[in-house]
Amino acid sequence: MGSAKLTLDDREYELPTVVGTEDEVGIDISRLRGQSRLITLDNGYANTGSCQSSITFIDGERGILRYRGYPIEQIAEHASFSEVCYLLLEGDLPDQAEKERFDHELTYHSMLHEDMKKFFEGYPPTAHPMVILSSMVASLSSYYPSANKEDKLRLNMSRLLAKAITIAAFSYKKSIGQPFMYPQNRLSYTGRFLDMMFSVPAEEYTVNPVLEDALNLLLILHADHEQNCSTSTVRMVGSSGANLYASIAAGICALWGPLHGGANQKVIEQLSMIHEAGGGYRKFVDKAKDKNDDFRLMGFGHRVYKNFDPRARILKKAADAVLEDLGVDDPLLEIAKNLEQVALEDEYFVERRLYPNVDFYSGIIYSAMGIPTNMFTVMFALGRLPGWLAHWKEMRSDRATRINRPRQIYTGATERSWVPLADR
Ligand code: CMC
Repeated sequence: MGSAKLTLDDREYELPTVVGTEDEVGIDISRLRGQSRLITLDNGYANTGSCQSSITFIDGERGILRYRGYPIEQIAEHASFSEVCYLLLEGDLPDQAEKERFDHELTYHSMLHEDMKKFFEGYPPTAHPMVILSSMVASLSSYYPSANKEDKLRLNMSRLLAKAITIAAFSYKKSIGQPFMYPQNRLSYTGRFLDMMFSVPAEEYTVNPVLEDALNLLLILHADHEQNCSTSTVRMVGSSGANLYASIAAGICALWGPLHGGANQKVIEQLSMIHEAGGGYRKFVDKAKDKNDDFRLMGFGHRVYKNFDPRARILKKAADAVLEDLGVDDPLLEIAKNLEQVALEDEYFVERRLYPNVDFYSGIIYSAMGIPTNMFTVMFALGRLPGWLAHWKEMRSDRATRINRPRQIYTGATERSWVPLADR
């Protein structure tokens, strides 16, 4: 282990360093305050490592993303979503028997307790499906109080993966006033979800394999992204000892924000706005650059990727293929490509290294698949679920985990005396 030196006034502090398997170096400041009363200040945790993790590696400068060492490009080409879930949760690819057992778990636990249907009835039809998803996931803890038991961890994780697609599809059915369709065990994980979304009792429905494959790809590309806002939330909530379902529900809420998973919905709304305004990309790029205007190009920029987002590259290609396979001609795809071109040639975006992120093309594919816009962030959540679970599990088993509790630099009033109401 090496060390770094921090000099402040005439005192020197020696700080140990930690080196990861990809030679990333972190300066361990965890004992600094004990030695010195100094803390580090890092707004938005842009330069702070919150843990050591062996799940996902990202090199944002080189556009590298790997789950458990496997490059995202290879995973996207070969894997099924359930294999990716297994890989993230267990650390290695499943063999045939392990895969069959895991697929069985994801199928067997897919139904919801019948009483939970009453919860859906209580929401107004306009309720955003992210509200329903987060509260239903939190509610699962009342049905499965074993959630925090070590020997029931795998069971509860499989349960949540299995039930999440049922909850998501029920929330959609609720919003359009159709009856809930129960999960069909003969179908694949993605096929089951599509069936619950789009089938109706009155008609025969066959899952289109193009949709099944597209969904598989989308879920895989969202499956993990190390210490992003929602995953850090899951870890933070879990670090207090909160149960699995409560921790994941908190992650779902964090994902909802437009700067995080909510961006995919905003991208389509923005592209539609440009379409309705008759094009004119430059106007929108200029608006995004204007410091007096809050407008941002949604689906652009990333805290970590500073060259390209490998997921966006895969999705841009997939968007062309999926739309062609489905025979969909969506003018928004052309607008997205043109907007990307205009932005990538603009000095403002080049200087700040702002590129399309995973959310830029995902919504176009979801639209072509018939998924309504207000379900896009739910789709992101379904994809990210195995990542959240893997991090929660890792956090729990890491002996270094302590309750997450950052410090602050206080900037308020210094001590003053209470003023009685009559004297104010
Ligand atoms: N449009 C215009 N300007 C932007 C954009 C954008 N989309 N993104 C960043 N900037 C500017 C920003 O104004 C700032 O400029 P300056 O240095 O002059 O003040 C600079 O680029 C750095 O931005 P930042 O907000 O400090 O960067 P961040 O790392 O804190 O934020 C981000 C990252 C993704 C929240 C941000 O780029 C953004 O708001 N993008 C749009 C929302 C979006 O697409 N979110 C999805 C992210 S990918 C999926 C996920 O993991 O959630």
